[in-house]
Amino acid sequence: MKIGIAGTGRMGAAIAQRLLGLGHEVSVWNRTAEKTKPLTAAGAKPAATPSQLAASSEFVITILTDAAAIEATYHGKEGLLAGSVGGKLFIEMSTVRPETERKLSAKVRKRGGLMIECPVGGTIGPAKDGKLFGFVGGDVADVARARPLLEQMCRRVEHVGPVGAGASMKLAINLPLLVFWQAFGEALALCRPLGLDGARLIDIFADTSGGPNVLKNRGPALAAAIQGKDVGPVTVDIDAMRKDLRTMVEEAGALGASLPVTARALECYDQASGAGLGKGDITAIPVRWMKQVKSK
Ligand SMILES: NC(=O)c1ccc[n+]([C@@H]2O[C@H](COP(=O)([O-])OP(=O)(O)OC[C@H]3O[C@@H](n4cnc5c(N)ncnc54)[C@H](OP(=O)(O)O)[C@@H]3O)[C@@H](O)[C@H]2O)c1
Repeated sequence: MKIGIAGTGRMGAAIAQRLLGLGHEVSVWNRTAEKTKPLTAAGAKPAATPSQLAASSEFVITILTDAAAIEATYHGKEGLLAGSVGGKLFIEMSTVRPETERKLSAKVRKRGGLMIECPVGGTIGPAKDGKLFGFVGGDVADVARARPLLEQMCRRVEHVGPVGAGASMKLAINLPLLVFWQAFGEALALCRPLGLDGARLIDIFADTSGGPNVLKNRGPALAAAIQGKDVGPVTVDIDAMRKDLRTMVEEAGALGASLPVTARALECYDQASGAGLGKGDITAIPVRWMKQVKSK
């Protein structure tokens, strides 16, 4: 398949590696061109502009920071939609509000293209291994056309409704996870005086109903963070998760609902970012809170 990927940040680069490894013809574009170099060295074709990327692809994947990044990449005179896009299928995978995906879909259709959304659960490792969880929104026929490709990126593909439904589902999935990181810091503060080793604490939590699934994957990094050791490469940074929390609160507001626990968690994340941890790994959220209590 001829696949274009616009946005080769952490997730886009991992997805590109996966698709290159499966033998697809992959073209890449990134606002900061430097970041495409490891991919072009691995066989991807560089595109000078989003519009050129779309011209050489049957499928175009975008996985970008937020709505402003989508706007900048799709629109404008060199944007993905600038040229002829008739019959091309766009797969939008960023974590944004449902309304952002719906508006984009209408614009893609107006230009003669097709669009589905597939925001994902899972981080860089699962993206490289094709083991993401895809929350898909789109028309049945468009999703059917994209499915063989989606199944090469995802261990599970859930078509949850029309465009916008995938974004709602992705925000909902991330909500308890992001609140958890803050709640876990509060729990650690309570048991810090016990002076237990980080790895032992994680092991105890992971074996009880106080520990969610994320401890299976991120437990070792979290134990290292508690011990003040290096957690390895950042997979999810705090500023990106502030964006997700803000998006959830905005979306709830548009639905006439309030999310008091989420809103308070966002304040705690904002404080962590204000303290200079914004580009740091998410594990710094619980560790920062824990440190309110002196260690033994
Ligand atoms: N990391 C994860 O574990 C994870 C998991 C699931 C979902 N997601 C979601 O996936 C999306 C990407 O996440 P990531 O971790 O890959 O982020 P990232 O490493 O920060 O990459 C963000 C990408 O967006 C591009 N971008 C940002 N602003 C732009 C603009 N104004 N115009 C054009 N391009 C712009 C960046 O280009 P530059 O390189 O030029 O900055 C980069 O390609 C986000 O919506 C995130 O919430 C992330």
